[in-house]
Amino acid sequence: MAKLWAGRNDGAVSKIADDFNSSVKFDKRLYRQDITGSMAHAAMLGGQGIISAEEADVICQGLQGILDDLENGSLKIDETAEDIHTFVEQTLTARIGEAGKKLHTARSRNDQVALDLRMYVRDDIAEITSKLKLVISAVVQKAEEYKEAIMPGYTHLQRAQPVTFGHYLCAYAMMFLRDTDRLKDCRKRVNISPIGCCALSGTTYNTDRYAEAKSLGFDKIALNSLDGVSDRDFCVEYLSALSLIMTHLSRFSEEIILWSSWEFKFIELSDGFTTGSSIMPQKKNPDMAELVRGKTGRVYGDLTATLTMLKGLPLAYNKDMQEDKESLFDASDTVKMCLDVFAPMISEMKANTANMRKAAEKGFINATDLADYLVKKGMPFRTAYKITGQIVAECIKCDKTLESLTIEEYNKFGSLFAEDLFDEISLETCVNKRISEGGTSVRSVEKQIAYIKESLKNV
Ligand code: ARG
Repeated sequence: MAKLWAGRNDGAVSKIADDFNSSVKFDKRLYRQDITGSMAHAAMLGGQGIISAEEADVICQGLQGILDDLENGSLKIDETAEDIHTFVEQTLTARIGEAGKKLHTARSRNDQVALDLRMYVRDDIAEITSKLKLVISAVVQKAEEYKEAIMPGYTHLQRAQPVTFGHYLCAYAMMFLRDTDRLKDCRKRVNISPIGCCALSGTTYNTDRYAEAKSLGFDKIALNSLDGVSDRDFCVEYLSALSLIMTHLSRFSEEIILWSSWEFKFIELSDGFTTGSSIMPQKKNPDMAELVRGKTGRVYGDLTATLTMLKGLPLAYNKDMQEDKESLFDASDTVKMCLDVFAPMISEMKANTANMRKAAEKGFINATDLADYLVKKGMPFRTAYKITGQIVAECIKCDKTLESLTIEEYNKFGSLFAEDLFDEISLETCVNKRISEGGTSVRSVEKQIAYIKESLKNV
């Protein structure tokens, strides 16, 4: 395809440079945004009398025809074009003649590409948000199913205090809820129109940037034209939000992988979301969770690539910025794939509640509650902590648990122990007395579930 800029220069770039320079292979996915943006631009030009109303109509009809033909497959994007903007404009002029040559009045590809990308990210935020909602719904449904299932809670991957599986699952639902909130917040800074900033300094035409922005659903316009064409903060913010989604998915995946192992056997993934081994017949591998964990690195890479691309750029547009798109598209595609696989994987996952409970019975997981028992009888916490530590050491020496020591044995460590201690240190008590807001008791977890469900309605 011919160059839009053939003039001073004949546009005869060497083939190797041309291929290197062209972005159409990846920016073709912006065709819808590019055409919609151009329609709004033509309408604004017509409305302001910069081109005639008839010309604006012919341009808009021509653009609509291109959009229809691309969607029904009768028009193919020419991959020798320099970029999607070139392809659309040249196809338009080939179809409607002279009027097509007026579309690029009072704009530049610099503001055009920034506009297209912002519109793309805006649509993408909606798509990722709805996929996140499906994951949250799947997680919260599991939390409800397992709100009473006692398991060990860990710190340093050492058994710490008992929690319920429902409580644990709600923790991830909270993270994903924050992710939806972050996307909503990011959208505020995405939804600012750069169109009309033109190449870098604005224009001498009597344009109406506000009307054009409004017709495209933007809340605001960029108020400095140099900034408007150079700002890719919105890409960085979006990639950061996507990276955090991957962080959450990856931490969850890590635990799914660990807990499906024979060493834990807390959960079992369905056959539909595991694979076998070509040599070891007994294997059931959590490949999907491993891939999600693995793909997290590439999304971080996309964020790092974009930050690094931007850090040394002088104002205003530089061709380096063409690199923003592949990183953004790759991150978005990756997150969508991961969310798509995650929701049904969680829905079909089963917990082995007996194993969870058995694990919670070991490791002196109720030691804090024994110390609290003494505190409630009047002992200062630090003293109670020390005595409980001595009791645990004694249990380890004679291979006993806190439940299996007799009262006589307890009495060797002090006079405050009585029969009621056994009830105080039972796993059920440990869990269900933790009624503090956000705690692990069934009542607290039910409140968390209700909060998550309510919040989902406003996402
Ligand atoms: N393909 C270019 C990009 O993605 C479009 C903007 C081109 N502008 C320019 N002055 N060469 O960044």
